[in-house]
Amino acid sequence: MSEKVYDVSADWAGRAHIDAAKYGAMYEASMRDPEAFWAEHGRRIDWMKPYTRVKNTHFGPGDVSIRWFEDGTTNVSHNCVDRHLETRGDQVAIIWEGDDPSESKKITYRELHSEVCRWANVLRNRGVERGDRVTLYLPMIPEAAYAMLACARLGAVHSIVFGGFSPDSLAGRIEDCASKMVITADEGLRGGRKVPLKANVDAAIERVGGVDHVVVVRRTGGAVAMTPGRDVYYDEAAAMVTDECPAVEMNAEDPLFILYTSGSTGKPKGVLHTTAGYLVWASFTHQYVFDYHEGDIYWCTADVGWVTGHSYIVYGPLANGATTLMFEGIPTYPSISRFWDVVDKHGVNIFYTAPTAIRSLMGAGEDPVKRTSRKSLRLLGSVGEPINPEAWEWYHRVVGEGRCPIVDTWWQTETGGILISPLPGATKLKPGSATLPLPGVKPMIVDAEGKELTGAAEGNLCIADSWPGQMRTVYGDHERFVQTYFSTYPGKYFTGDGCRRDADGYYWITGRVDDVINVSGHRMGTAEVESALVAHPKVSEAAVVGYPHDIKGQGIYAYVTLMAGETPSDDLRKELVAWVRREIGPIASPDLIQFAPGLPKTRSGKIMRRILRKIAEDEFGALGDTSTLADPAVVDDLITNRQNKR
Ligand code: WTA
Repeated sequence: MSEKVYDVSADWAGRAHIDAAKYGAMYEASMRDPEAFWAEHGRRIDWMKPYTRVKNTHFGPGDVSIRWFEDGTTNVSHNCVDRHLETRGDQVAIIWEGDDPSESKKITYRELHSEVCRWANVLRNRGVERGDRVTLYLPMIPEAAYAMLACARLGAVHSIVFGGFSPDSLAGRIEDCASKMVITADEGLRGGRKVPLKANVDAAIERVGGVDHVVVVRRTGGAVAMTPGRDVYYDEAAAMVTDECPAVEMNAEDPLFILYTSGSTGKPKGVLHTTAGYLVWASFTHQYVFDYHEGDIYWCTADVGWVTGHSYIVYGPLANGATTLMFEGIPTYPSISRFWDVVDKHGVNIFYTAPTAIRSLMGAGEDPVKRTSRKSLRLLGSVGEPINPEAWEWYHRVVGEGRCPIVDTWWQTETGGILISPLPGATKLKPGSATLPLPGVKPMIVDAEGKELTGAAEGNLCIADSWPGQMRTVYGDHERFVQTYFSTYPGKYFTGDGCRRDADGYYWITGRVDDVINVSGHRMGTAEVESALVAHPKVSEAAVVGYPHDIKGQGIYAYVTLMAGETPSDDLRKELVAWVRREIGPIASPDLIQFAPGLPKTRSGKIMRRILRKIAEDEFGALGDTSTLADPAVVDDLITNRQNKR
């Protein structure tokens, strides 16, 4: 726990959109009269028909429904593209930096308009209409942004699947939302290695029906199988259409996108975000948290397959007329200085990345950073998992040379955008703390029984009232939405995170309190990894927990019981890791597998994960009460054969 405090410099307080006094006033106004506050801030986007109703939100018990600006109409693509043409048509909208440093390009807002319209026409010609779902499985190339904005232009709902997911995971997501179209590339390119995207799409479609069209972007030019009548190369389809396409008038609450995310139980959930509230939130938070000013070069290193890429590479920055950098590669290719080389090459002012990247670069020492200039950097950001104070200090001292504030931004796929974060001109920083709620956000810490804890306290983090960027439902399963987020503590949105509030009112996120683990900033449900493992013919039972990992934050620890007659071996361990990679994707690879003859269960047969977690965390002294176990002896075996001995 760090007690260090970094004051806001006079420079920052003077130039920022929001200083401490303004933050206080805005926060107070947003709590006192949310209707009036958002009636004003909702006007930051263009409306076709202005709203008259601002907030209509209910957290239950009973009715759980969330509507913002519900009688207004607008179009997200218009807001991210067309409305900038008059004032900044020739300004760069997207800087694309390829995997190979010799490849990069700049796309102006005028070019973006023409690309997005062409894409929309290609989609429309293949029957995509308002409300249809379109699955995107793409590398980090500008076409990903074009395709997203083309869907939004037509009122179609995109569902992006991260390129690291397996054909099976892709198939499940295509099926869940009944996509009739998939947009992909021949191959992706990351760290000099090719990713067989089109082949994965073919394998996925073999497993699910219903896909009528596959649009393929040529990225590497590699040879791929094309199914006649179903598959088309984008460039060939685009040559047949014009670059004009009107933006469809959408209701504020029409769906904009679905993004699948892991929860503590069952299959990944399709988090649904709608049109206007989401865009208002993405644009409001992007401007204020990153203190975006005209002319700034802004870089978020996420992938568009995750929510961070949606809100802070594409929608937030483009709604604000920003220049956003999109990076195809990885931090260590061709050298471990790549991030800083890109910063220098494009004069990046604002840099936003994940703690796992910082920790892994930290391991290589200061020299690869110091041999670059980084003079352009003004602000640094962090997202995805708690940042430990050591990594924070290194980021601040080495990368930012002590002159750049760090915004540690806490949020979730479900929240649409940042909820708790410093504002660089307003908030004193404490390394490791996400600090204070943004205007419009009402955090609440509750104990296990749901009682609100006031003042300095530690417990479970809830949000007491709605904000415009909040998810509206789980696609196709509103009951699951209510169950997952509003039933643990009725009347409140439960985040799944634990949290401490200190005497200054600062929030310190302590990590998930449910069965979700956060591996290198990627969310993984332990239940998903377990069901992949038990699908293997030699596995009878599996239990998966997280354990502390120096670089990834959390690693995946799997306890596996084999079928009778099977023998544990290192080869089988490798086989199971490869199996999970194939079933879910490389991001779900177990780091440690322990073969266990038995798992600790209660007499009613429930696995006691608390014990498994403690063993994986190396905390044998803290196992707690084991007397309710059906067979207490299994615990001794688990301890003896633990995998990550320190
Ligand atoms: C964790 C990513 C601490 C948290 C935007 C949350 C964080 C989950 C932070 C959501 C942060 C995200 N400090 N923890 N600054 N940001 N988290 O949906 O546990 O991929 O619930 O959204 O990441 O992950 P998701």
